[in-house]
Amino acid sequence: MAPSGTPLPTPTASAPSTPVVRRITGLKPTGHLHLGNLVGAIRPMVAGQYRTETIVFLADLHALTVSHQPAQIREFTLEQATILLAAGLDPDRALLYVQSQVPQHTELHYLLECATGYGEAHRMIQFREKSAQRDRVRLSLLSYPVLMAADILLHDVHEVPVGEDQSQHLELTRTVATRFNARYGETFIVPRGVLPAVSARVMDLADPTAKMGKTNASGAGTIFLLDPPEVIRRKVLRAVTDPARTVGYDPMRRPGVANLLEILASCLGGSPDVLAADYGSYAQLKNAVAEAVEAMLRPIRLRYTELARDPGYVRRVLADGAERARDNAADTVHRAKRAIGLLSH
Ligand code: TRP
Repeated sequence: MAPSGTPLPTPTASAPSTPVVRRITGLKPTGHLHLGNLVGAIRPMVAGQYRTETIVFLADLHALTVSHQPAQIREFTLEQATILLAAGLDPDRALLYVQSQVPQHTELHYLLECATGYGEAHRMIQFREKSAQRDRVRLSLLSYPVLMAADILLHDVHEVPVGEDQSQHLELTRTVATRFNARYGETFIVPRGVLPAVSARVMDLADPTAKMGKTNASGAGTIFLLDPPEVIRRKVLRAVTDPARTVGYDPMRRPGVANLLEILASCLGGSPDVLAADYGSYAQLKNAVAEAVEAMLRPIRLRYTELARDPGYVRRVLADGAERARDNAADTVHRAKRAIGLLSH
């Protein structure tokens, strides 16, 4: 295993050395995946698997931090894994597994809790927001970012693609890793966050000031990746626009129309302000968006249907991934245990 904090050694001495970058992404199985997940996370991850060592896991332990239904977690976990494969994640290139099948996540979590302050966890904006919405708050909601730190540090990754909402958690990860290294000796690689392109943000069609999400109230403004074509069409045609009569790109003043143009750009390529000139009315624009989204999702939906016929295949991919992940992770946990004083060799 590589010495922590330094770039990984290159495999051969002959080729000019470009060190392999390792990346990790976690998806929480709390709902159906949607267009925002595809554009913001899944597509970049699938493209990235050819350039980087890609690790993807279904963060089912994180899904237990707020009230949950046991059967649903299992269903969403399998559904999300199947969608990732349907969208082109290649299990021979990328490591794909379910978090709870790799016990080293929780093992490292505890060790990192011993290097994290209560105040640090309590200050997290997401904890404050989520705990304010509930009267019963699980202790795991408070320690959630420490588990996230364990997820990341377990695999000696260099980069973590994070949206705005997770950047504070990544900062905490870096703080805890740096502190652990300083206190107990070099143990972890301190990873950097990579922010997705701004255009990768998809907003809710019914409320374009909010991010498209798995759990938005009615789902009316969310295009789920497995929505049938007529549902996609209906949601797009009902998208909120504004009273102006021409199509123009102005994210601040015309967020609904801007969102439609950004979605179109993410399907077709090109830039939203240039695309705006091609459409004379909202009806034309919406038709184009509905068609482009459907064309992008169709192959994923078809492949999903095929894969879902054989859940045994997906389960085998996940079991195999978990085994490889345990092998990698065992080494990190061993290092951390030795450093913190639990093992002598
Ligand atoms: N907290 C992330 C989210 O809510 C999911 C997640 C858990 C994650 N562990 C991670 C993402 C590790 C990246 C790396 O979306």
